[in-house]
Amino acid sequence: MRVPMIAGNWKMNTTVGEAIELVKAIRAELDRIDNVDMVLCPPFISLSAIGELIKGSSIKLGAQNLYFEEKGAYTGEVSSLMLAGLCEFVIVGHSERRQYFNETGEIVNNKVRAALKVGLTPILCIGERLEENEAGRTKEVVTEQLESSLAGIDCLGGLLIAYEPVWAIGTGRAASGEQASDTIGLIRRNVADLYSEKIGGEIRILYGGSVTAENAAEFMSQPEIDGALVGGASLKADQFLGIVKQTSEIKP
Ligand code: 13P
Repeated sequence: MRVPMIAGNWKMNTTVGEAIELVKAIRAELDRIDNVDMVLCPPFISLSAIGELIKGSSIKLGAQNLYFEEKGAYTGEVSSLMLAGLCEFVIVGHSERRQYFNETGEIVNNKVRAALKVGLTPILCIGERLEENEAGRTKEVVTEQLESSLAGIDCLGGLLIAYEPVWAIGTGRAASGEQASDTIGLIRRNVADLYSEKIGGEIRILYGGSVTAENAAEFMSQPEIDGALVGGASLKADQFLGIVKQTSEIKP
């Protein structure tokens, strides 16, 4: 069945030294958990060092972004080919990238393709903004984002989706377990319609937005929700460990 995943998106936080300290603090404890996929997504510059630190452990590594061209004159960008040897996962289409770096559905689509081509597993983020939610447009918005992100892509590999309502990110105002589960159910239905019932049943869909050790159980007890993409709380070892441990206990 669907193995739950807890992924930590550290965003633009931690120096290399701080990243190493954080991994050391969580590694020993997490080594004992074998029924949850644990993924750390530090800044690019720490991938190498953390890769060394987690060797032989069950912790996996992800990047927070990639550029869709493989190489060339794109100053400051990091490509799929560069990441392929360093990590297994890559977050694509995070709302902060859509908002601050003008990532369109087409760009996100190109990034998903680039990741899949080299065997990286995308964690595709979708989610509605507050005004869209209040206007009752959640379903329409996530459907459009899903369709544009995956347009023309026949094989999803192990692609995961993270449903992250923008109004819940970094605000302390998480969705309720029921709200998140309803929208995730809808996304799963869309995937089944776009691909097949089998793929809809197998694809892992995470919730993200103000998840903490205090509210994790509410999300993890929803059968539709396969884990979490955690921002702020993933920067604190005890919080991240708490979320992982509860997931391990609640999910079969
Ligand atoms: P917070 O957990 O800080 O709300 O961030 C969620 C997120 O954006 C994860 O990608």
